[in-house]
Amino acid sequence: MASPSAISILDAIATSRKAFENNEAGAREALIDQSRALISALEIPSEFVQRTFWAEPAQSAIIRLAVDVKLFQCLQEAGDAGLTPSALSEKVGVDNALLQRLVRHLVAMNVVSFQDGLFRATKLSNGLAAENYQHSISICYDATRPSFNGFPEYFKKIGYKSPTLGGTDGPWQAAHNTELRFFDWLVATPPHLQHFDSFMTAYRAGKPDWHEFYPVAERLTAGFDASVSDVLLVDVGGGKGHDVATFAAQHGPVTGRIVLQDREPVIANVVASSEERAFEVQAHDFFTTQPVKGARAYFLHSILHDWSDEDGLKIVQNLVPALKKGYSRVLFNEIVVNEEKPTLAATNMDMMMLAHFAVRERTEADWRNILAQAGLKVVNIYNYPGVAESVIEAELA
Ligand SMILES: C[S@@+](CC[C@H](N)C(=O)[O-])C[C@H]1O[C@@H](n2cnc3c(N)ncnc32)[C@H](O)[C@@H]1O
Repeated sequence: MASPSAISILDAIATSRKAFENNEAGAREALIDQSRALISALEIPSEFVQRTFWAEPAQSAIIRLAVDVKLFQCLQEAGDAGLTPSALSEKVGVDNALLQRLVRHLVAMNVVSFQDGLFRATKLSNGLAAENYQHSISICYDATRPSFNGFPEYFKKIGYKSPTLGGTDGPWQAAHNTELRFFDWLVATPPHLQHFDSFMTAYRAGKPDWHEFYPVAERLTAGFDASVSDVLLVDVGGGKGHDVATFAAQHGPVTGRIVLQDREPVIANVVASSEERAFEVQAHDFFTTQPVKGARAYFLHSILHDWSDEDGLKIVQNLVPALKKGYSRVLFNEIVVNEEKPTLAATNMDMMMLAHFAVRERTEADWRNILAQAGLKVVNIYNYPGVAESVIEAELA
């Protein structure tokens, strides 16, 4: 049989322990991968089916319900003292008998704990109580999941072919009975835009940021030339500005302006928030010519992966006239799919792209190809252990 034995995986886990204890980069992620492999090696088909089609769907449904009744926030507020089932039932407004059954499943799934007659929060449930995770749970359950659920019927209907890349008749439109593309649907159906923008701040949280492994001092700040432009960095399609905020916090104060760009409704929400900002904001549609000329760097994080090659090319072509040859860098912070050894993070995102946009994650050859068509050459590709997205540094060829 091709799959490794449970014993060999246990041996590998024992070896990984040292790296984990030494806090080596990627060690935690490697242990998670090995633990998944261990479950696959140990689990028999009946257990696999129950976990996949009962335990996990029930868990996500209960967690979505928990958002509505603020379950995790109540447990967090109770702290170490915990709450009896009846006290928790009263606080969240869920019938005691029902609540106990729902939360018991979360206990069995290690999301919350139960001891001495008291439900208590865990590190995980406290993390999930934060607003950006509450919004993430809502958008993933309400928007993404119906699209995945619809895969079998959708693909049967279209004869098991690839959907039109970036089209308006993909799994997304079928599941939501709409002709709108995902980003337009978000704006048209509040509060999904707000939830999605929050989700973007949360889904890679806790992982090293791009500027922690891209050599910022050497490649960006060292050669900054204010006589070309006083802009250091433009975050194109940067959502709420989480990437530029952490960049400014870690590398600031920097010489040169930092500009966040996104669609008008997204920028309007950023402007409306009372949060202090270390960057400027500008509404800009990336299908139109880039207005900031000659910046040291243009940063596009998870942008091209949302679009077909045809649309992605248009986005890059709209950027190209702004670039100063030999000076401006374009940084694509994106997944580069390894065809030999695809990671779960890469295949997960590829499925998300299929579900939302009917597009795909790209291999290195795909990246080089699309960038070359726009007149860019790849200077380097930076990776970091345990981080799904690479930084592809490109410049005018
Ligand atoms: C997948 S999110 C990435 C957000 C952010 N860069 C990140 O990685 O967290 C894609 C972003 O592209 C923005 N976007 C979509 N269409 C756009 C357009 N035509 N012009 C500018 N931004 C757009 C969305 O509003 C969203 O913020």
